[in-house]
Amino acid sequence: MRKQLKIGTMIHGVGEKISDWRHPTMPSDASVSFDFYKQQAQTSERGKFDFVFIADALYINEKSNPHYLNRFEPLTILSALAVVTSNIGLVSTLSTTYSEPFSAARQFASLDLLSGGRAGWNAVTSGLEKTALNFSKGVSDHPNHAERYRMAAEFMTVMKGLWNSWEDDAFIRNKASSQFFDPTKLHALNHQGEFFSVQGPLNIGRSPQGQPVIFQAGSSKDGIAFSAQQADVVFATMPRVEQAKQYYRNVKEQACLNGRQPDDVLVLQGISPIIGDTNEAAERKYQELASLVTIEQALAFLGRLFEHHDFSQYPLDEPFPELGPIGKNSFQSDTDRIKAEAREENLSLRQVALREATPRTVFMGTPEYIADLIESWYDQQAADGFMLIANLPSELEAFVDQVVPILQARGIFRTEYEGKTLRDNLELPYTENVLDTKLKDNRIGVKA
Ligand SMILES: Cc1cc2nc3c(=O)[nH]c(=O)nc-3n(C[C@H](O)[C@H](O)[C@H](O)COP(=O)(O)O)c2cc1C
Repeated sequence: MRKQLKIGTMIHGVGEKISDWRHPTMPSDASVSFDFYKQQAQTSERGKFDFVFIADALYINEKSNPHYLNRFEPLTILSALAVVTSNIGLVSTLSTTYSEPFSAARQFASLDLLSGGRAGWNAVTSGLEKTALNFSKGVSDHPNHAERYRMAAEFMTVMKGLWNSWEDDAFIRNKASSQFFDPTKLHALNHQGEFFSVQGPLNIGRSPQGQPVIFQAGSSKDGIAFSAQQADVVFATMPRVEQAKQYYRNVKEQACLNGRQPDDVLVLQGISPIIGDTNEAAERKYQELASLVTIEQALAFLGRLFEHHDFSQYPLDEPFPELGPIGKNSFQSDTDRIKAEAREENLSLRQVALREATPRTVFMGTPEYIADLIESWYDQQAADGFMLIANLPSELEAFVDQVVPILQARGIFRTEYEGKTLRDNLELPYTENVLDTKLKDNRIGVKA
């Protein structure tokens, strides 16, 4: 039996796109408005979505998207959202290149415990090289793409090890016998690796789902290899069904090569639907959004993907410039795709910049049409589910009120939450505390 369709949403303040904040219906302080985040999370929960997701990055300059300039830290806002929601998963981004695994394991375990087992971690490797400047390092210290993924793999091993510090029934809390915990059920990690050295144990126990759910979004060769080994859920944003099917097959095949089952890793495609009562109404919405973008903003948006490359130095209406290796060390799969599309379709810089700033999605049309497309991608194994990256609050509302009921009527999406934890709803098993022999030898309190 294939798992049911999964749906999540990215809550992204004033918008993913550079000019969405100017739309008349967008609250211009959305990125730092708790009320906005609360409303979006509660609307998503009304739609029975699996999770809300908060993206993040750790470097800005004056050309960054408005949302990036002034936004909530993800674990903080999700901790607040945990209190005003009850079933929906809470997925936070955190960098494996610019964080310490001990602190990260503790933060995620705390969110998982206080939300009753609803936490997820989107592990990212941080493509922007100038991030190093915010972490007491120089730009040349920013690890290269391959090294970042090696770090990510070790970071993940440490996180999972720390989350197994305590066995499920370690805390006895017996006042009469004065036994707070069973010392044979507490384990140090004693990890010594290439990048991290962490003794443990972690100072927080396990949650109702055992461990937070692991999300990952890299789609380069290294990124897919990492996801296939470690992730429970992967995100991608493939604009066409054929590409999405190829990516889906690739992830599942590599998961199997790692001894996993195809269903152990769910593939979700990020989509930004534009919904109208008629196709013409949807097209008008798209044109309205596209008209908000100036070419200067579009060039800045494009530049960020290519290590903040300055595209204003090139003529706008000549073919897209030859960039050599620029972009290889940042968001590699995106920059490779942009270069290839520009070459194959003979696009000018202006065309590339405007297209990236306001991509024309195939998920544009009436609610029935969007539901048909979702069902068709799901049936064709192009996706196990979708993550909405709504341009405007109205599109999230329209999706919940008009598309979800169609998917429910067709029996491919839930009408009620199956369980309390994110793992329950994603049909992922509880993570048993399976200690390897090395960790078992590290029992604290047991005299040799
Ligand atoms: C839906 C989606 C969400 C993402 N969210 C983040 C994020 O919050 N922070 C981040 O640094 N990168 C994010 N990324 C980028 C990926 O982590 C990754 O760097 C990018 O897809 C390039 O992958 P690659 O380095 O394997 O080529 C996201 C990507 C996708 C498709």
